Amino acid sequence: PAPIVLDSDPGLDDAVALQYLLGTGLWDLKAYTAVGGNAPVDRAFRNARGLARAFGIDGDVPVHRGAGRTVSRVVSDSGFHGPTGLGEEELPDSTAPEQEESAAAALLRLSHRHEGELTVVATGPLTNVAAALLQDPGLARRVRRLVFMGGAARVPGNCTPLAEFNVWADPDAADIVVSSGIPYTMVGLDATHGWRFTHQDLARLDAAGPGQEMTARFMRTYLRAYETNHGDGSCPLHDPLAVGVAAEESFVTTATGTVVVECASELGRGQTVFLAQDKAERYSYPPHILDRTRHTGRVALGTGPRDFSTH
Ligand code: BDR
Ligand code: CA
Repeated sequence: PAPIVLDSDPGLDDAVALQYLLGTGLWDLKAYTAVGGNAPVDRAFRNARGLARAFGIDGDVPVHRGAGRTVSRVVSDSGFHGPTGLGEEELPDSTAPEQEESAAAALLRLSHRHEGELTVVATGPLTNVAAALLQDPGLARRVRRLVFMGGAARVPGNCTPLAEFNVWADPDAADIVVSSGIPYTMVGLDATHGWRFTHQDLARLDAAGPGQEMTARFMRTYLRAYETNHGDGSCPLHDPLAVGVAAEESFVTTATGTVVVECASELGRGQTVFLAQDKAERYSYPPHILDRTRHTGRVALGTGPRDFSTH
């Protein structure tokens, strides 16, 4: 199994992403790091510790607390994932002592220990990854690949017409990351809205019996939130898809190009502007923006040939 860090703001679909990651058997989870987003960072950390216990990795996989504030300074809490961030679920705490080491410090340490081999999957705002890069820009060279759930390249946002929640919650952090030179794959709404969890899937999960009850509760709550807030009869598998793509990119179709994040405007906050590599020179931007096309990443633009929904 390959070394990986999961940085997450649990979060209902974040919790399912962790369970899925552990279930693939493909990864050696070196750290589970918590970031503020769906819930404030202290709550996300508490949830992460509870999930570590619930999924049987308590004490084996260290859980680290994330940065106390976002780079963009706006504290966010979507409320979308219910009062605790995991619906109404209050999980028994981890029995392991609390880690002193911060999420960013753990990321940097592991990037040295597993230089060139470490995959990082981020399913929340990019605050911790940016904090680590600000401390040591060399992190960008040492990570094998960062796969993050966030952004919307060619489709509307989900928290404003222009922005996806994770990027909106800390746009400066996202911009630091995509301009750092780190090899990245952005798994945004263009792709996640295509792989959905339905009532049929929920019925299957309910029938799966012992061991799946908590996940079924999470997905029921998430499905309801999508029904209530968006009028959808299904919900996107945002965060699990990012984990899936880390191992198997053919769950999505990708294009190479540059992502620039709108950080300055109130209306456009968190918009991810995608400059396709083959068109980049034709855009009428000032030189300092065109200069950004030196760094490219892969951006998921839709669902791929391999079926993720049955995976
Ligand atoms: C993202 O925002 C959060 O609500 C989800 O956990 C996911 O990471 C989707 O925009
Ligand atoms: Ca998330």
